[in-house]
This record gives sequence, structure tokens and C-alpha cells, in this order.
Amino acid sequence: MRILVLNGPNLNLLGQREPSVYGATTLAEIEASCIAHGKTLGLDVSCAQSNHEGTLVDTLHGTDARGIVLNAGAYTHTSIALRDAIAAIAQPVVELHLSNTHAREPFRHVSMIAPVCAGVIQGFGAAGYPLALTALKGVIEARG
Ligand code: DQA
Repeated sequence: MRILVLNGPNLNLLGQREPSVYGATTLAEIEASCIAHGKTLGLDVSCAQSNHEGTLVDTLHGTDARGIVLNAGAYTHTSIALRDAIAAIAQPVVELHLSNTHAREPFRHVSMIAPVCAGVIQGFGAAGYPLALTALKGVIEARG
């Protein structure tokens, strides 16, 4: 079962970016943990990251993965285009955030994409990614 882990803007800087908020784990380490955890679940995980909204839209349109774990970064709170892209594809998307956005600034309390996602995992740091993979596998299996 092919799964895509897709990370959005500024997440390429994980490890050095506001570590008190996002932790010390780098994106490369997160991606490696996703691939390793995916293997234990029988998932073939591939990973991508972009700082560009349109590239994220194109990646969602073009993927042949059975499901997607998406940390859309700040586009979560602003992007109707990403929301429409998620609504346009058949595969389930799990929204993910390292931080608990509801415990932060009010502008982070709104998610444009949550209504079209299968579910949301947030606030558990890098540990959220394997949790999201486990949840996504369950969603795909339940859909049959
Ligand atoms: C984030 C939360 C967003 O509000 C923020 O813009 C990010 C990271 C997170 O993983 O906690 O870039 O998605």
C-alpha cells in the first residue's frame, strides 16, 4: 500500500526552526521514521516537501498513493486551493501538525483543510507522524 507523507512550507527547516515549538527532530529524521514505521505496517511510504502552494496542489493531484499524511504548515490556515485539491482527489488525507495549533495564536485555530480531511493529529511533535500513518491505514482499510 503506497502512502505519501507531504510536508509544506518551512518544514524543511525542522530541527533549526523554533525548536521550542517544533522540536529538534529534522525533516530527514521524520521522513526516515515514517518509512521505518510504514514498513512495520506494511506501507510503502514516500515523502515530499515543498514551500510552494501550487506544487503542493500538483503533488496531491498527481500522486498514486492510496492515502496522504499532510502537514500543510501555514497554508493550513489560508489555502482554499489546498482544501479544494484535497476535496478533488479520492484518497483520504490525514491532517497533521507537530504543535497543538489550538494552544497557539488565534489565526492558527482555523484550518481550511480540516473539513475535507479524514482526521487531524496534532500536538505530539514528531511522534505524530507514525500515529498519522497508523490512523491513515485504518481509514483506507475501513473504506475497503
Ligand atoms: C504547523 C503549524 C502551523 O500553524 C505552522 O504554520 C507550521 C507548522 C505544525 O506542524 O505545528 O508551519 O503545521
